[in-house]
Amino acid sequence: MPVHIVNHPLITHKISVIRDKRLGTRDFRTIVSEITLLLTYEATRDFPLKEVEIETPVCTTRARVLPDEGRVFLIPILRAGLGMVPGMLDIFPLGKVAHIGLRRNERTALPETYYYNLPEGIEGATAIIVDPMLATAGSLSAAISLVKKNRPRVIRAICLIAAPEGRERIERDHPDVDVYVAAMDERLDERKYIVPGLGDAGDRMFGT
Ligand code: PRP
Ligand code: URA
Repeated sequence: MPVHIVNHPLITHKISVIRDKRLGTRDFRTIVSEITLLLTYEATRDFPLKEVEIETPVCTTRARVLPDEGRVFLIPILRAGLGMVPGMLDIFPLGKVAHIGLRRNERTALPETYYYNLPEGIEGATAIIVDPMLATAGSLSAAISLVKKNRPRVIRAICLIAAPEGRERIERDHPDVDVYVAAMDERLDERKYIVPGLGDAGDRMFGT
């Protein structure tokens, strides 16, 4: 099942806090970052480890570490995905950040690509795409298709809030990609906004 809803009281609580339209930009950013960190923990649960030898102050021992921490590519979908990067970098401080600029056309709700910059080295690496909203899934589906061209070993996606329509679409378009979301909402409205959702994620993130 590619879309995983991460049920955890801390995450559920924090999602409720950011839904409130009275929450200011500074708190919105902080809490989005905290939720992202918690979701990243779940999205990386099955990451492989390798054994290395290390010396503790007491003795030499075999220990397990991530094989190549620096080969994790964190890919925010601009703009709103940028707000999820700090939370990811808290966990992957050596991670590389690559950007994809997609904007939903306000009339058609279809995504338009305006920036695409995936660096070399992504082939065979781990790619984690982040975007707070999975509404129609047009944006995430397009981003995954772009990232697939660079042949990473694995692609994951992390979103905060999804609509059932988005879930259906992403499972159909990319059944090979696991997507982790904090909440599955009721539906999309006539403007293709998630209901109850949190409004325009980019505007709330950047105070515009
Ligand atoms: C929002 C959001 C997603 C997209 C989701 O971005 O951050 O990228 O909409 O909608 P979809 O699932 O129907 O494609 P938007 O296009 O508003 O751009 P912004 O982040 O620059 O505000
Ligand atoms: N984009 C947003 O920012 N919010 C939604 O509810 C849907 C798409």
